[in-house]
Amino acid sequence: MGNLFFGVLMFLTTYSIAQITCPILPKPVTFVPASDQNPPFRSEKLVFNRLSLPAKLGHVMPEIAKLYGINEVFWKDSTDNRPSPEIAFQPLTGAYPESYAISVSSTGIRISFTSEASCFHALQSLFQLMTFNKPANSYEAPSCFVKDFPTFSWRGLHLDVARHFFTVEEVKKYLDLMSMYKFNVFHWHLTDDQGWRIEIKQYPKLTSIGAWRDSTVENHYATFPRTWNTQHYGGYYTQDQIKEIVAYAAQRCITVVPEIEMPGHARAALAAYPQYSCTGKQQSVPGLWGVFDDVFCTKDSSLIFLQHILDEVLTLFPSTYIHVGGDEVPKTRWKTCPNCQTKKRILGLKDEAELQSYFIGQMDQYLKKRGRNLMGWDEILEGGLSPGAAVMSWRGTEGGIAAAKEGHFVVMSPGSHCYFDHYQSKSTSEPLAIGGYTPLEKVYDFHPIPKELSAQEAPFILGGQANLWTEYIPTFDQLTYMTYPRAIALSQALWGGSKAPYEAFEEVLKMHHIPRLIGADLNAYVSLSFMKPSIKFNRIPNGISLGFEFKDSSESVVVSSNDGYNGIWLDRRKTLDVRRPSKTSQDHQLTFFSPCCADSLTLNAHQGLGAMITYITPPNERYNSGDLTLVDGQFGARPWRGNQWVGFDTNSVTIRIDLGKKTKIRGLELGFLQEPSSWIHLPEEVAILTDRNQQNTFKISAERTSIKYRQKTQYILLTFKGLEAIPAGMPGEGNTPWIFADEFVVK
Ligand code: ACM
Ligand code: ZN
Repeated sequence: MGNLFFGVLMFLTTYSIAQITCPILPKPVTFVPASDQNPPFRSEKLVFNRLSLPAKLGHVMPEIAKLYGINEVFWKDSTDNRPSPEIAFQPLTGAYPESYAISVSSTGIRISFTSEASCFHALQSLFQLMTFNKPANSYEAPSCFVKDFPTFSWRGLHLDVARHFFTVEEVKKYLDLMSMYKFNVFHWHLTDDQGWRIEIKQYPKLTSIGAWRDSTVENHYATFPRTWNTQHYGGYYTQDQIKEIVAYAAQRCITVVPEIEMPGHARAALAAYPQYSCTGKQQSVPGLWGVFDDVFCTKDSSLIFLQHILDEVLTLFPSTYIHVGGDEVPKTRWKTCPNCQTKKRILGLKDEAELQSYFIGQMDQYLKKRGRNLMGWDEILEGGLSPGAAVMSWRGTEGGIAAAKEGHFVVMSPGSHCYFDHYQSKSTSEPLAIGGYTPLEKVYDFHPIPKELSAQEAPFILGGQANLWTEYIPTFDQLTYMTYPRAIALSQALWGGSKAPYEAFEEVLKMHHIPRLIGADLNAYVSLSFMKPSIKFNRIPNGISLGFEFKDSSESVVVSSNDGYNGIWLDRRKTLDVRRPSKTSQDHQLTFFSPCCADSLTLNAHQGLGAMITYITPPNERYNSGDLTLVDGQFGARPWRGNQWVGFDTNSVTIRIDLGKKTKIRGLELGFLQEPSSWIHLPEEVAILTDRNQQNTFKISAERTSIKYRQKTQYILLTFKGLEAIPAGMPGEGNTPWIFADEFVVK
């Protein structure tokens, strides 16, 4: 596994038993610290008694210990009379399935367990309890009792290796990290439009052609004009490498569930074997993200091709479930394909949704005959789902709810909480991501069982999973940045146990886990907004003030700026006031430094800063980030992150700005978002009314529109008119477009 976890900082801790909070994440069901009188477990060496330890774990234990910076563990042999207190194991029968218990005292540690997996989980918990006391040169653990078991049986992390490829060593590191937080399913997204990553011996072109692309789009795919990186890019796993990874995962009590995408997201396979598409047309492996019209044809030869592929997949992956994708399948080609239309007619199918249902049904039967179960994204419900197939609900929880009500097993993976390709902070220094906003708190708040399900239906929810789509995650460093610590928050939601309030979770994370991960050179997300104070904006006369919300009284930040705020030291009592400028506006570039990290902010000081805003048209509740957003000196973040903007779900919007007193203005600069893929369009025009009571109308044709408007006025009434309906050929055609506004600069 390389040296990633060597050199972990072992923090010096002297236990004061009375103050002990449980350092284990996910938090165990029960943690009872012993009373003050009980000394902790202390030992120079960690000596394990092999008796009753499952053999598999004996092999992997030294590797697990290394994840926690413990480079050597010792085995007690029968002739050993060393005085070290030992760590012993005891199988339990009749206890709750997958449960374990740890009892720690100064005389030794006893781990009881019901299964290999539960013993493995106990070891992870044990190592999380352990600290190294450097001056005393001993390992220490507080005297305590832990009793624990998981709530959900599917605790998954997914990895898309098609959009960007990750090496065998990187996948193993991903599995190591998963194992520390008791994840037990690795959903390996092996094929997609942009690359086929699994060797199939019967179809060698899948990897000789399908694993490689000649270009990759740069920046966000919705940013125009597009530019391209023309590096030949790709890679794949040989069957031997796949066996190695599956075995490595199994040693860590993780099941690998492969995903072979069909009938959509198939462009890489069709670049290699175009005869299995509807048109037969030769096309290359695309380097653009998105959804493509060319999918597998429903003709028999295509189904047989895929079933041959599954034959080889089944020899490599012993998992009960085989994931066949099924998401985002345009029916465009099927509608004009003679083969697909003939099939539809012969089978008496109503429409192409039923054709997709037939396609998935064929795979389901094929897998069932071979003792496996099919799983697919929630689109496989459309047109009817065959009994026994399981659903992974990603477009919200609705698909999962419907499936559970029909008696299908479900894994919940809604975009709202489980898409770790979304942004995790509002900082403008975040690396480019696909969009969305899924901060740590939100992940922690995830509940896999929706309240719509009855007690009888709830057991169909196997658990949950986070997805790591890698369009915008080109490196392993960035992968860990997007995954951690959000995966730790998810592990708590899936393990269940007794969920602590978010603040308590964050404290344990900050004290025990982030230092360990960073000490192991892992590029985890640790930002100002997460570790240290978050910035709060307030309205003050003629401006705004920035305050910091500190988590404890010893924290502070140093602010430096390009224009005079250098070295301002802020603690919880102080705020930084930014006033409206008297003449020209100038941007303030502010940089914040706190003990953990730095962050930066650009503030545009203009004459409307902190003005009173009245939304005469109310914003949509989900996208109402407050009445200061439009005049807080910050432009809405781009690419859109689902926040920092005020969103209206109507095409006529009226907003009033009250400057507080008659003010000489030179004009306005109005900011809007243009994001057609999310149905967000610019308004077409704005009518401006001021104290003079004379209305003027201006065209809006760009995301930032400057309007010359010399007046002396206190009030500015703005009425925006947008398109009646989204034009044909655009996403959401025929619907009312959204209007998203941010920062109305008053010059
Ligand atoms: C998905 O995110 N298309 C399953
Ligand atoms: Zn066809």
